[in-house]
Amino acid sequence: MSEDSISVGAASAANSSRVARSQWSSRWVFFLAATGSAVGLGNVWKFPYITGENGGGAFVLVYLACILAIGIPLLMAEFMIGRRGQANPEGAVAALAREARASRHWRKLGTVAVLTGLLILSFYVVVAGWALAYVPTALMGKFSGLDGAASSAMFAALLADPWKLLGCTTLVLLITLGTVSLGVKEGLERSMRFMMPGLFILLLVLVGYAATTGYFGAALNFLFYPDFSKITGQGVLVALGHSFFTLSLGCGAMMVYGSYLPPGTSIAKTTLMVALTDTGVALLAGLAIFPLMFANNLEPSMGPGLVFVTLPIAFGQMPMGQLIGVLFFIMLFIAALTSAISLSEPAIAWLTEKFTVTRPKAALISGAVLWLLSIGSVLSFNAWSEMTLHGKTFFDCMDYLTANLLMPLGGLLTVLFSGWVLSRATVQQAIGIDHPQLFQLWWYLLRWLTPLGILVVFLHAIGLFD
Ligand code: PHE
Repeated sequence: MSEDSISVGAASAANSSRVARSQWSSRWVFFLAATGSAVGLGNVWKFPYITGENGGGAFVLVYLACILAIGIPLLMAEFMIGRRGQANPEGAVAALAREARASRHWRKLGTVAVLTGLLILSFYVVVAGWALAYVPTALMGKFSGLDGAASSAMFAALLADPWKLLGCTTLVLLITLGTVSLGVKEGLERSMRFMMPGLFILLLVLVGYAATTGYFGAALNFLFYPDFSKITGQGVLVALGHSFFTLSLGCGAMMVYGSYLPPGTSIAKTTLMVALTDTGVALLAGLAIFPLMFANNLEPSMGPGLVFVTLPIAFGQMPMGQLIGVLFFIMLFIAALTSAISLSEPAIAWLTEKFTVTRPKAALISGAVLWLLSIGSVLSFNAWSEMTLHGKTFFDCMDYLTANLLMPLGGLLTVLFSGWVLSRATVQQAIGIDHPQLFQLWWYLLRWLTPLGILVVFLHAIGLFD
């Protein structure tokens, strides 16, 4: 972006009559920022464990179908709304609704998106804190000689320590909001440059190592052989929810990144590249983790600890494992950080533009709210672990509420808004797809397949088709 343009962007929008809203400095930076948002804990931490919990292949297939039919068309729509609306999610939707002479209530779609982003961030920073906590653990060589039971015990000990968790969470929040309040461009651009290739290479190394365990075939079978008897209506909903989570949809993040998008950048091409990279990283993570899981007699359904239990075993055994382990958790942390930054940006832009507070003040306000909420997630793993609603802890509830309800709902409203409220001419101009057939295909997906897909998954999940 030009200068410190996220910060400049917010300030300029407040005085929009005088200063033009600023933009990403190049298409490449925009691609990096969008990929940085998409690739994160969702790919490396969440995808493997929910795949394990939901029986493997059939779940992966449904997830890929959701990315294609729902995620990609919606990601394009979010970029388009942001670029056309030139404001935070609420302001952008309001501007477009005004232009289309539609109800002012549509703006609430943007408001809910901003709040959803904050709710996600409140537990995202806790998991990012786990990655941070594992950096010194790896550095001190504590992974060497771990077996499945010892690694599980090590992770359980981390979760049982609320003060350590809260310390790490607080540190993650400080780093995220510190970066955001100072201006994102420098930090984001620089970290993305080595983070993306670095994470990719480390994952490849891990896949290579996993292939030597003798269980690679079993993992391939688990990930890619679809056994539909293993997937339930709830599993399909989790797959849909994850396609939103992993592409950062339904919570304003991609909308606000789109609002810093210069005209002339191809939304369609960027979207495809982001989706492809994101899916590639998730599948690589699966290919690294499942052979190790089988080789060490761990349960695929063990839940959120899967990555944090399986990978340390490998780091403890492989050549140069100590160094690779340290690098891996640093990369994972940075991947989480670039996602966390994008999760906070809708709220920061909203606060600065709507209430004309400065960026540091906006960061402070959201930081305070986030910190209080994150305590609930921290305690879910220890003091409050027995406090459950329908068997779900506070952390589980936050995850379920956001990924399986709020994001799909926000996404549904976004596609209905773009496909049915805005005029075709406006959308066609705003999205900038030159190829008439391609535009037609996207327009059809956006108006029909995407909303119907989301609805069918919801109805399926509440058991309407059973
Ligand atoms: N996509 C990010 C991940 O996979 C998480 C995220 C969700 C980021 C929503 C921004 C908005 O880790």
